[in-house]
Amino acid sequence: MLGHRPVPCSAMVPNDETLFEKVVNLSKRRGFVFQSADIYGGFRSTYDYGPIGVLLLRNVKEQWWRTMVQLRHDVVGLDASILTPPAVWEASGHLANFTDPLVDCRECGARHRQDKLDEPDTCPACGKTGSFTEARHFNLMFKTHAGPMADSAAEVYLRPETAQGMFINFANVLNTSRKKPPFGIAQIGKSFRNEITPGNFVFRTREFEQMEMEFFVPPAEADEWYRYWCDARRSWYLDLGMPQDRLRLRDHDSDELSHYSTATADVEFLFPWGWDELEGIANRTDFDLMRHAESSGARLEYHDPGSGDRYVPHVIEPAAGATRTAMAFLMAAYDEEEVRDDTRTVLRLDHRLAPYKVAVLPLSKKAELIDPSNEVLGLLQPHWMCDYDQTQAIGRRYRRQDEIGTPFCVTIDFDTLDDRAVTVRERDSMEQERVPIEGLVGYLTGRLTS
Ligand code: GAP
Repeated sequence: MLGHRPVPCSAMVPNDETLFEKVVNLSKRRGFVFQSADIYGGFRSTYDYGPIGVLLLRNVKEQWWRTMVQLRHDVVGLDASILTPPAVWEASGHLANFTDPLVDCRECGARHRQDKLDEPDTCPACGKTGSFTEARHFNLMFKTHAGPMADSAAEVYLRPETAQGMFINFANVLNTSRKKPPFGIAQIGKSFRNEITPGNFVFRTREFEQMEMEFFVPPAEADEWYRYWCDARRSWYLDLGMPQDRLRLRDHDSDELSHYSTATADVEFLFPWGWDELEGIANRTDFDLMRHAESSGARLEYHDPGSGDRYVPHVIEPAAGATRTAMAFLMAAYDEEEVRDDTRTVLRLDHRLAPYKVAVLPLSKKAELIDPSNEVLGLLQPHWMCDYDQTQAIGRRYRRQDEIGTPFCVTIDFDTLDDRAVTVRERDSMEQERVPIEGLVGYLTGRLTS
């Protein structure tokens, strides 16, 4: 709970259709997210995270790592490779099963995922009924070649999930970390899927980041740990300020389950287009370890030296999307309010997620204010990401910081030269307080962690 400070719920109506547009515009305008290869006309469905967005994304990932690894004694980390040989995907079932059913409309040529059609027989692009081709099963994995020969012997895949890295390293981690079930292996990293219908900004893209943890448990404890992780993961979002009424846990029906899972629940967020998935928590049983043991010949089991028991652990997997979650936090935090006949846009982000924690703002560009401003910046930078801005009127600069969710602005004015104090302005209340420079780090530490 260190650093937690509950934030007020967004005043924007969650499914206000303008919210999506406003957040996308803000993201582009303020440097959260840019269209990839923008100067070449943009590369569809891939995005680059700009100076502010990269900080938000890092903070989401850091909070996940802190909760899932740092604050636990039973989870260790991993950073596995993205390029993976086909044998891994053969064993995991991805080569055979990681497909989407694809149909083409004979009338207008539009291509759709059959399982996502509102009306199974009607083309949403042209309205024609009965015009679809037979469904083809399209594998979502990106294939490439390792080395100079582009032949089938050199084929490798970009991983479509980070999870398999944890399974194929199970024995390595077990032998080197002195852990025993129940224990987990956690990883954050990029995954790639050749999605047929990417869209909704960074919600569904072909290149994205995942935050996944495989928790290996004695088989008899699997149900209990499944419930534990469903609760724990839901709480993580709420603790970081996600409003209760925009977050839910939804159990999968049996026909929705993946080929490896006996139970799955999704953490869903109320996006402007409706409820949609942020994370899946799955009971993967012993499927993956068994398949990799069979295919590789390695022994992937736990041997309890005390009891002499040998067993293949079952796996509970909380699998979240970092990029998608960052977008959900942006949407939940976006707010507008009337202040003195003007509309103030403010991102009411939890302090831990805010890209910059503090902005240092000299009241004017006059030379005598620059030295004390640099002194203040130098005091704060070792502790927090800080912004520095000396252009435009101070009111406009406050608004620019509100828009990107900066919790505190520190203004250096001409009185500072006499009293060595600065004005600290808080984002949500806009209240201001005079604080001595000598006590500034202690003051902000208290406010950013209370
Ligand atoms: N290892 C299990 C697994 O990968 P998943 O539900 O396919 O499960 C987990 O993916 C999470 O990864 C999703 O809940 C979502 O947040 C994120 N994710 C999946 N595909 C994505 C995509 N195309 N774009 C952005 N995020 C995606």
